[in-house]
Amino acid sequence: MVFDLATLSPVEKQYYLQHVIAPRPVCFASTIDKEGNVNLSPFSFFNMFSSNPPIVIFSPARRVRNNTTKHTLENLHEVPEVVINIVTYDIVQQTSLASCEYPKGVDEFTKAGFTKEPATVVKPPMVKESKAKLECLVKEIKSLGEEGGAGNLVICEVLRLHLDDSLLNEDKKIDQTSLELIARLGGDWYCRTSKENLFQVPKPNVQLGIGIDALPQSIRHSKFLTGNQLGLLGNVHEMPVVEPSFDDEHLKNIVQYFAVDPAEMEREVHTYAAKLLDANKVYEAWQVLLAAENIV
Ligand SMILES: Cc1cc2nc3c(=O)[nH]c(=O)nc-3n(C[C@H](O)[C@H](O)[C@H](O)COP(=O)(O)O)c2cc1C
Repeated sequence: MVFDLATLSPVEKQYYLQHVIAPRPVCFASTIDKEGNVNLSPFSFFNMFSSNPPIVIFSPARRVRNNTTKHTLENLHEVPEVVINIVTYDIVQQTSLASCEYPKGVDEFTKAGFTKEPATVVKPPMVKESKAKLECLVKEIKSLGEEGGAGNLVICEVLRLHLDDSLLNEDKKIDQTSLELIARLGGDWYCRTSKENLFQVPKPNVQLGIGIDALPQSIRHSKFLTGNQLGLLGNVHEMPVVEPSFDDEHLKNIVQYFAVDPAEMEREVHTYAAKLLDANKVYEAWQVLLAAENIV
């Protein structure tokens, strides 16, 4: 199915885009108006776009329903400063409560039960319960349209970052698995980062990966290896060679039982290599595949 966005209603555009452009991190924005009234609202149209200068952008959009603008946006036109509080799982329900459309002047810190903590270089208060907070100056607000659903890019320079001590180890590094971040998807769906669902992808570093196109034909066109597994094999910096010292009992068994039947042998070897790759044993997988290539 192909959707031509121009033929969709504003609600449909929002629906489909929000379900697939996900998960989105949540900026829990604290702002004030020129009288000093505080506002606190979550925005998942949010991300970082530059680290030097440190720039993050979020977007309070015009309401699709009635094309009105959000208090957060109005406040930022009056006082261009914001604290962006990062949302973790322990405060997700309170954060959602703060998104209710309370009348202007109602303080969502109070409604959602959060504690105000003074910021150090900007006027809006921080959310004490948030484990990471960004004090920001608004550099520019860019309106993306006049109709309901139109975003307003709030381009912010981060001046100070507050991190809860519990997130840092002795080297002042963050343990990514300990920060249970939440993110928004389509509709009412959210996700949460936790030890069980996080995984690592080895970063291709300055050396180039040989590429999937450089893999031997029989590996590249394997019926048993997935795109992710081929991606791991193609990420080595030079074509591996068989190491005479490589010794693997399971491979020996495969060779012993299946050497007479090349098709069965390929299935067994590739399935074994796939298992090794899933366990991130790239070197071993290469050795198994190359050793079998030499036999066949
Ligand atoms: C997790 C979450 C993410 C949201 N993201 C956005 C967003 O990116 N843009 C937006 O305009 N509204 C977003 N909303 C809705 C606003 O939070 C909501 O309209 C809020 O009432 C605005 O408050 P304000 O008028 O006090 O600024 C989101 C709501 C939730 C719960």
